[in-house]
Amino acid sequence: MRQALNSGFQFAKAGVRLKNRSVLAPLTHNMSDSHGNPSPAELDWLEHCANGGFGLLIAAATQVWPGGRCWQGQPALMTDLQQQAYSRFAEATRAHGALALVQLHHGGVRAAPALNGTAPVGPSSEAPDSRYPLGVTELDEDAIQQLIGAFVTAAERAYRAGLDGVELHAAHYYLLCNFLNPVLNRRTDRWGGSVENRTRILIEIIRGIRQQLPRQFLVGVRLSPENYANVVGIELQNQLAVANLLAAEDIDYVHFSMGDSFKLANGKNTALLSEVINALTGKTTLMMAGNIRDGEAAERVLSAGADLVAIGTSALGNPDWIYKVTNGVPLVTPPFADTLLQAHGFNEAGITYLGAVPGLVVISKPKT
Ligand SMILES: Cc1cc2nc3c(=O)[nH]c(=O)nc-3n(C[C@H](O)[C@H](O)[C@H](O)COP(=O)(O)O)c2cc1C
Repeated sequence: MRQALNSGFQFAKAGVRLKNRSVLAPLTHNMSDSHGNPSPAELDWLEHCANGGFGLLIAAATQVWPGGRCWQGQPALMTDLQQQAYSRFAEATRAHGALALVQLHHGGVRAAPALNGTAPVGPSSEAPDSRYPLGVTELDEDAIQQLIGAFVTAAERAYRAGLDGVELHAAHYYLLCNFLNPVLNRRTDRWGGSVENRTRILIEIIRGIRQQLPRQFLVGVRLSPENYANVVGIELQNQLAVANLLAAEDIDYVHFSMGDSFKLANGKNTALLSEVINALTGKTTLMMAGNIRDGEAAERVLSAGADLVAIGTSALGNPDWIYKVTNGVPLVTPPFADTLLQAHGFNEAGITYLGAVPGLVVISKPKT
């Protein structure tokens, strides 16, 4: 028995309980159609994870506004048809005693011009270069208001679909993260400058959702704690200040996309995990993701003070992750056989997409 992992968790303000502390991290799969209509395959995959025992499932980054698409097969939640698909996700998850969230997303400076037919948008304009071939168009006041409305409308759709809540994707250099980032956000109006101003768009979305929906509907925010890979402008002190502002709002959790939950903070001799936990303990529920692959790693993160652990890579090969780590059944480790992923619901588009991530998939079937 994994002690902390298998203890239930209560979202106090919402009065909603999780049967355990394991969370399916949001995982883009590229299995929706080119209009963002979720496919039976992706719903099958999510159902496998619900059946496998995760307490909470967060469906992949989902488009809320036309110009924000990042992947050919990215799901969207903008139409009645798409809402119906999410109803199936909600029902299947509930049937297994778990809770279902969807991650609401706009690609911001990372939105793909080829999919959107336009230059990406962001808090400030960027000149065309190798990174932004069409440049980046600065959002005006009217467009910012429309975007806030789009996130709130998608949350209302999630609620009507029967989902238990939404996660706002403010990590990984996408739109909401772009606003938090002083390198990308050089505005001098009320949406830029101070950390309060840069966080305003997120807070307006949170308040908008709270005005529309009952309090048991969960609202969480995903943040990157610091720079990763070659990104710039995401600094720990800024992100902790943002998280503190969010914790003072009526939210249910902050989810840190750590990359590696066991790394040192950039340029420091202290663990990133303890930096985050020390700054926020007692202020909001803390969910951590990143290199939490087995039960021991999960228990380490929980005993350091996190409330919930989100499992990404390992879930792909082990939708029954919590069952396995609880019962001492060996986990399948990456690279995962394509046939295994198929058995978990993945279709060819999904396997091709995951196959492009180094070390994740072994393609066993020769193409005919
Ligand atoms: C294939 C793949 C797709 C992902 N898609 C998303 C996504 O849609 N939204 C998001 O916030 N993070 C996404 N991530 C990041 C994961 O949620 C997670 O934070 C990351 O994989 C680290 O956790 P892990 O070491 O358990 O994999 C993705 C990661 C992978 C490998």
